Amino acid sequence: MSARPSVFVTRRIPAVGLDRIVAACEAEVWPEQLPPPYELIRKKIANCDGLVSLLTDRVDENLLDAAPRLKVVSNFAVGFNNVDVPAATARGIAVGNTPGALTDATADLAFALLLAAARRVPESVIDARAGKWKTWEPLGYLGQDLHGKTLGIVGMGRIGYALAKRGHGGWDMNVLYHDEIANAKAEADFGARRVDLPELLRESDFVSVHASLTDSSRGLFGAKQFALMKKTAVFINTARGPLVDQKALVAALKSGTIFAAGLDVTEPEPPDAADELLRLPNCVVAPHIASATFSTRNGMAEICADNLIAGVTGKPLRAWVNPEVGYQRRNNPGTSK
Ligand code: DGY
Repeated sequence: MSARPSVFVTRRIPAVGLDRIVAACEAEVWPEQLPPPYELIRKKIANCDGLVSLLTDRVDENLLDAAPRLKVVSNFAVGFNNVDVPAATARGIAVGNTPGALTDATADLAFALLLAAARRVPESVIDARAGKWKTWEPLGYLGQDLHGKTLGIVGMGRIGYALAKRGHGGWDMNVLYHDEIANAKAEADFGARRVDLPELLRESDFVSVHASLTDSSRGLFGAKQFALMKKTAVFINTARGPLVDQKALVAALKSGTIFAAGLDVTEPEPPDAADELLRLPNCVVAPHIASATFSTRNGMAEICADNLIAGVTGKPLRAWVNPEVGYQRRNNPGTSK
């Protein structure tokens, strides 16, 4: 039997991380474009020390129980709502994620969606391609200005801060935010004002979501919240689809309760090809690409590899979601400092 740790990697990740994983471990890498089925992951990790998972892989109690040797789950994402962290912690399994690496790329994409939705870019491009561009129209494709408007950020963490920086620095936007925790730096740097959610929704011209998906944030945006927003408001979600009641969003977009939306995340992903959401002229939907730049995905791969290799060798993770696992770590008593 090999002395090297065994790991299962549920998708090919950039070589800068994968090559190191393959060099340090007995690694099996799922080669397909689509995720391995849940039952297959269960089988594959039966004798594994480490698992690299993606946000499309459900890592729950039942899965963890199939892997008595597992020491680490290294999630190739900053979000880890796909991993049952308390269940991992209870089993002494370390969980890692990739914070920081994708902050700017995600804020950029949120802003790209914001501009695209506010200025009706996809709708007008589709019309131009379809030969519907007949002349320059004084009343055609009128959208919303950004300059000097109010940007409401729900979740003022790293990505929320990076979006505030763009909006305040580039477009002189006033920044409101809603978060359980005050962000003194955002307040000092951008004059951001912390308000409750209804106030943020009532006052903002643009509402962008950067909250984690938890049991309490699931369905945070529904009919009631959209009704509070301005008719001219643009709603952006680059966080997680289930934060939003999608039926309520579709209704709000169709009825003119809000002006437009830009989404990088949906529920489910992908939406059914026949889903109305994909057909609405005032809704821009991207296929969860916020972190999809070469250098960002490389950065994520490096952190992911660091987390995995640290986890299988009993060292502290570079980005450790459950550091409280500490000394109780599976098969590595006392190795975590
Ligand atoms: C994440 O990392 O959580 C993003 O959703 C994908 O990069």
